[in-house]
Amino acid sequence: MNIRKLAPIALGLAAFVGTSGHALGDEQSKAMTDEELQERIAETRAAIEQFASTLQGELVAAMEEGGPTQAIEVCNERAPEIADDIAADTGWEVGRTSLKIRNPDNSPDEWERIQLEHFESQHADGIPANELAPRHEVVEDEDGARFRFMSAIPTGGACLACHGTDIDRDVKHALERLYPDDQATGYSEGEVRGAFTITQEM
Ligand code: HEC
Repeated sequence: MNIRKLAPIALGLAAFVGTSGHALGDEQSKAMTDEELQERIAETRAAIEQFASTLQGELVAAMEEGGPTQAIEVCNERAPEIADDIAADTGWEVGRTSLKIRNPDNSPDEWERIQLEHFESQHADGIPANELAPRHEVVEDEDGARFRFMSAIPTGGACLACHGTDIDRDVKHALERLYPDDQATGYSEGEVRGAFTITQEM
């Protein structure tokens, strides 16, 4: 998997940056050829896949070894580190966010909140959380033009030990110590837990 070869694509995009100061809609995004857009999406998805599978692998191993109380460390320390590694590799901003966050560092910005709400409403309309189409848009604001991408994260059965309703007392205490304002409990399997989010300078 090669997630480093994005820079040339970005160069071709400078020409169509709009002046509105708002999110650019589909029409402006079309200035990126379909091929360029598809390639960009594929590279972005590959980075997310790498983030998801690395984190999942470490989480499962830690759960097997020491149960959820120890595995909290993986989420607490390794999740941001894995994101930072991929960010260093690609030059992109990489993270996870949610409408109900555990770590305030993961708070959604306005664009992310809109996408999360869209995922929720689609899910409420009957689309399973693991089938929600990713969202992407070229956004222009005071920071310049950026390609933004989010894909929903479904709540699996294994997530409930730390995000469900019936959390073991030791796990609960460990979570409370690290995250006094934790909002990320009370989930059921199949709900939207949050999303991966990637921002690329253009
Ligand atoms: C062992 C406990 C544990 C398990 C199991 C667990 N998580 Fe988490 N999760 C955490 C912790 C701790 C954080 C806060 C990470 C941080 O500080 O960035 C977190 C944060 C998150 C976030 C980032 C948004 C936020 O709330 O801060 C998402 C998304 C998430 N988890 C999804 C999942 C999913 C999906 C699963 C199941 C595949 C899962 N988690 C399983 C402990 C866990």
